[in-house]
Amino acid sequence: MVYPIIFLLSLSTLAAADFSGNNHGFSYMEPTCFQTRDTEILRNTTPFVFPPERPHQTSSESCRVWSETCSEEILSRAKRPENVRWLKSLRRRIHENPELAFQEFETSKLIRNELQKMEIGYRFPLAITGIRAMIGTGEAPFVALRADMDALPIQEAVEWEHKSKFAGKMHACGHDAHVTMLLGAAKILKSRQHLLKGTVVLIFQPAEEAGNGAKKMMADGALENVEAIFAAHVSHQHQTGVIGSRPGPLLAGCGFFKAVIQVRTGLTGSANPVLAASAAVISLQGIVSREANPLDSQVVSVTTFDSGVDLDMIPNSVVLKGTLRAFSNTSFYRLIQRIEEVIVQQASVFRCAATVDFFEKESTIYPPTVNDEKMYEHVRKVAVELVGPASFMVVPPMMGAEDFSFYSEAVPAAFFYIGIMNETLGSTHTGHSPHFMIDEDVLPVGAATHAAIAERYLNEHTTH
Ligand SMILES: *[C@@H]1O[C@H](CO)[C@@H](O)[C@H](O)[C@H]1NC(C)=O
Ligand SMILES: *[C@@H]1O[C@H](CO)[C@@H](O)[C@H](O)[C@H]1NC(C)=O
Ligand SMILES: [Zn+2]
Ligand SMILES: [Zn+2]
Repeated sequence: MVYPIIFLLSLSTLAAADFSGNNHGFSYMEPTCFQTRDTEILRNTTPFVFPPERPHQTSSESCRVWSETCSEEILSRAKRPENVRWLKSLRRRIHENPELAFQEFETSKLIRNELQKMEIGYRFPLAITGIRAMIGTGEAPFVALRADMDALPIQEAVEWEHKSKFAGKMHACGHDAHVTMLLGAAKILKSRQHLLKGTVVLIFQPAEEAGNGAKKMMADGALENVEAIFAAHVSHQHQTGVIGSRPGPLLAGCGFFKAVIQVRTGLTGSANPVLAASAAVISLQGIVSREANPLDSQVVSVTTFDSGVDLDMIPNSVVLKGTLRAFSNTSFYRLIQRIEEVIVQQASVFRCAATVDFFEKESTIYPPTVNDEKMYEHVRKVAVELVGPASFMVVPPMMGAEDFSFYSEAVPAAFFYIGIMNETLGSTHTGHSPHFMIDEDVLPVGAATHAAIAERYLNEHTTH
């Protein structure tokens, strides 16, 4: 996930966000207000020995029709001590060997090894390192669960036994936990394969942070036959195991732009691109303050203004760069269009020409992540039954962005958070912080949640 930059967090437009479900009393908009005391070191971790493979156990036949018992079976299976040890060891191995976007070769190999051990079939490679695995009947309906595999170019500052072994690379967004939880779900679902009334598609994607991963996975057929998709992100804003989501827009669309404003060819004398660019900056400000509905949060920020270094000459061109964010799909695409119009037209007033690039080819545009109402409701229902109503929260939208949005544009989707915050452990730091750490007790809960979402979805959407 791309986290909001601090400046964006202070914008008053965000105050309009709906906080009604936030009964824990912490604010989404001010992560810098979270405790910043030093991360406690995880000590006393006993060396791990792999448990022997156990034969798959048959679970109760009662889950031919979904009932609360099925949730209990799934959760208790996930929480078996040998399963928890397996999950932690997987996550620690991935954490020690973080790999950046499209370089997730070892991570991908580890996942494939585990899938092979579980006798789960998969397709590889999609998008260089990505994997699409399947469990179930091989027939419709197909429901997908997605995990992202990439790490960040950050030097880990947490001193613990399983610290990143590679300088300048770190799983600082929790994607190591996402992969582990999805493998945990795979194990549960495989043991309950005879109960699946359709097919679960497991998507392990590269390059979420760099932005092309989801798009490339889709181009390589990740969503083939898939009618619904779900994904989780760990969150330091919830206590361990607390699940949060919301219907509708959840994460902002995020994009960047670069405008080049130049004196029109053939013009001599009076045209001044510095004036033209300055007018464009002021007018861009007006798009959000005058045109946007204040209840529909949007941001346009010009963050660099480059007109060269000469002090005694009017430059031939000025380069502006900036970023935009919006929650609703319509506003996001309208904003892109208006940014281009405003810059080109203001330049023209000052007898300059302008070109605006949104880096669409590099996929640095992420559309907003919008939860389908029915898919959100499915997550809510599953979570409430699995972790209890007190551990489910309706959360406000957040100015961060996720490339899960590409899937959510293609099929009905829901994205949810799962808490990793534990003050005793010190797992209170925001994602993308070098102090980021998770409470590993989230792993079995996350695995169970994924498994229950998929199994129950098939159970309730079967065509037979
Ligand atoms: C958002 O808008 C774009 C462009 O108009 C469109 O291609 C896409 O399908 C829309 N997504 C959703 C979820 O409505
Ligand atoms: C936090 O972690 C400690 C140590 O693992 C554990 O004893 C405690 O139950 C955890 N607290 C919560 C709220 O999960
Ligand atoms: Zn991230
Ligand atoms: Zn992330």
